Amino acid sequence: MRIFFLGDIVGKSGRLTIIKNLKDILEKKKIDFVIVNGENAADQGVGITEAISNELFNSGVDVITTGNHVWDQKETINHIEREERLLRPENLSSNSPGKGFRIYQSKNGFKVGVLNLMGNVFMKKCDDVFEVSKKFMNKYKLKKDYDFLIVDFHGEITSEKMAMGHFFDGKATMVVGTHTHVPTSDYRIMEKGTAYQTDVGMCGNYDSVIGMDKKAAIDRFFSKKSYLTVAEGEITICGVLIEVNDFTGKSNSIKPIRIGGTLKPTEEK
Ligand SMILES: [Fe+2]
Repeated sequence: MRIFFLGDIVGKSGRLTIIKNLKDILEKKKIDFVIVNGENAADQGVGITEAISNELFNSGVDVITTGNHVWDQKETINHIEREERLLRPENLSSNSPGKGFRIYQSKNGFKVGVLNLMGNVFMKKCDDVFEVSKKFMNKYKLKKDYDFLIVDFHGEITSEKMAMGHFFDGKATMVVGTHTHVPTSDYRIMEKGTAYQTDVGMCGNYDSVIGMDKKAAIDRFFSKKSYLTVAEGEITICGVLIEVNDFTGKSNSIKPIRIGGTLKPTEEK
């Protein structure tokens, strides 16, 4: 079983690149299940719409996770109640629409749990992510409730993500970070068999400031009024591919994937 996780899809060019290329990648790499973080996939680079979610599902995506921008397109408040394949962080206040954890059926017959979390440091106010995770671990178990568990930790700081990775070690198939839009090179299998990478990076144009137009972003640091727009342009597809052990639910290997655009590719075209 191979599971593919793609980092934050940014703007129109980010999502069109995924829509155009995903089926080929899935076929070539024999991928069985795909999760993407889609909270920046709208044209403005914030939020996601129903039409965009459907385009991503039609291109081969199984589950979409989100984060701090989940409600930036108003329609999501209703859409998320109808669409089980769209998750919001589990540790938003409990009366928030939608869910942050669900169990899905993969095409090859496995139960895949996907848990979407959001950090507490330098992020929007949400419930304590470690307390929520502890409760989650007491309730759900790998190989009992699901065959595999994938955790998207949407957060700003490295230490919080790494601590969460170790906290889930042996209890999740993979813990990956999203939100910073920059891929880290610390991908590895941890001591008890959980695959980990602090941040997967974005599917966006890296000739930018985390996906937004670089001039406007620099102006902001000089306290000039500027309106951030998505840096449309050549996209680097950033993700990780794991090969999992069907019997233990843990990971055998984790491999970063970078295709196209500004960043050095991980493989030949
Ligand atoms: Fe984010």
